Amino acid sequence: MEKIREDVLILGGGMAGLRAAIAAAEYNPGVSVGLVSKLYPLRSHSVSAEGGTSAVLNPKDSFDLHAFDTIKGSDYLGDQDAIEEFVRLVPEQIYTTDHWGCPWSRNPDGTISQRDFGALSFPRATFAADKTGFHVMQTLFSRALKYDIHFYNEYFATKLILADGKPNAVTTINLRNGEFTVFQGKSIIFAMGGAGRLYQFATYAHSVTGDGDAIAYRAGIPLKDMEFIQFHPTGLVPSGILITEAARAEGGYLLDKDGKRFMGTYAPHKFETASRDVVSRAIMWEIEAGRGAKGEYGDMDYVFLDLRHIADKLDERLPMITDIAKKFNGIDAHNELIPVHPATHYTMGGIDSNVKTTTSIPGIYAAGENACVSIHGANRLGSNSTNECLALGNVAGKAAAEYAVSHSFPELDMKQIEEEEKHIWEDMLRRDGGENVAKIREDLRINMDKNVGVFRTEAPLQNSLKNIAALKERYQKITIEDKSSTFNLELEWAFEVGFMLDLAEIITLGALQRKESRGAHYRRDFPDRDDKNFMMHTIATYSDNGPILTYRPVVVTKWQPTVRSY
Ligand code: FUM
Repeated sequence: MEKIREDVLILGGGMAGLRAAIAAAEYNPGVSVGLVSKLYPLRSHSVSAEGGTSAVLNPKDSFDLHAFDTIKGSDYLGDQDAIEEFVRLVPEQIYTTDHWGCPWSRNPDGTISQRDFGALSFPRATFAADKTGFHVMQTLFSRALKYDIHFYNEYFATKLILADGKPNAVTTINLRNGEFTVFQGKSIIFAMGGAGRLYQFATYAHSVTGDGDAIAYRAGIPLKDMEFIQFHPTGLVPSGILITEAARAEGGYLLDKDGKRFMGTYAPHKFETASRDVVSRAIMWEIEAGRGAKGEYGDMDYVFLDLRHIADKLDERLPMITDIAKKFNGIDAHNELIPVHPATHYTMGGIDSNVKTTTSIPGIYAAGENACVSIHGANRLGSNSTNECLALGNVAGKAAAEYAVSHSFPELDMKQIEEEEKHIWEDMLRRDGGENVAKIREDLRINMDKNVGVFRTEAPLQNSLKNIAALKERYQKITIEDKSSTFNLELEWAFEVGFMLDLAEIITLGALQRKESRGAHYRRDFPDRDDKNFMMHTIATYSDNGPILTYRPVVVTKWQPTVRSY
């Protein structure tokens, strides 16, 4: 067993984690900062962010407008005090990353360029062509190398140990040699991303398995609003690769199988740039009505994204998706249609936290998609994710460093640590019931796509709960064929599947109990928003008998809920 101590311990090497690491290191160079990630940081899913990041940079724009767009986008489930504070934190992050070398796209006069995006009332999406995540991540990573930040790449976290209500340790497996490694942090930041790979058809990297949510939940830190899963309207068929919303914001159309533009029926003002939940439902309704195309790309029905009339913009503004269409589908977007279908894209829920990034446990912080502040409520606005990683990663890093300065390391709770070590080697690795981890994972994803997707109804949700219970039983009987200690990915997947099963249960239960439609959560049997009963966050707390759900009112400052249309 190896033991490593860092004053500030950051879990996750994506955009929020890197930003937090830099902030902690800058806050006090005397504080040691360790960043633990199951991947090399530049392989984190953050690099896949494409279209842009919203920030109020233009004097004609305003914080109130950004806040209101976010609140309306959230279908009034976002906490308005948090949103008001958040939008004010963002612009500084754009200028800071600009100074660190991020190649933000520019206007001819040299100022930072901004584009329209879904459901924005002002074009405030700041972008680096359609490779925004890649460029921001490159910038942060190279900046992080300036400091004495200790990177622990390819360590897989299995458990958070709390003792006396305080952070005590995080247990991990060093994937390179299988060594059980215990990290101690005076403060710990969760920045491990979302949980989107609970679904099959997804824009997510396969590494996004909700580890951070599940680890926190199992340790007793509540999760919030997990039933709200975002489906991005334009996942490329059949791979699910993201075709950025910027393609529609730049003028792209959505067409049915007969070449008819249909968004006017669903969003008479915004058309293709309505909020994502609205556009995704519209596509699904078109497909259900028999107006989807099918045949060429497997079983999935789809509609078309038409960029032919904006062909002159593709090379400069949308080079990556043009390339993706060519490489993955052999399609030349300049003169051919792109097949698209809604794909799982974002986890609005996460660790119950706030705009200060604190959680129910002093010394434990959460940032990025791993956190639920709640800024995004029932539906995140496109371009409001990477800005959150930057702004609140920065807040978390400073707060965690400040906490670390005034606290000491507790004595390691060896009883809990040794129990976890035994669990890995003497339980997980020795189970021998013949069940295959990858098959359980596949069955889980099929279940989530089918029963907890864009449209939800009582009976399929009940079915989902039954299926998850059966999958949990099968999970007890897995056999991990690979017994080796070097990059035992089967063992890693086994942990991930266990995490995903817990989260699937919370998502389904939350969806079942929320008898209304709001944002990305659409109940066919309760198609209206119910502000009287459900202007509430769902809080899920761990118990040995399954999640316990309670509810907490949404914070409203000055925007009373009204009818939401685009
Ligand atoms: O479509 C996109 O480029 C995605 C952006 C986002 O999720 O914020």
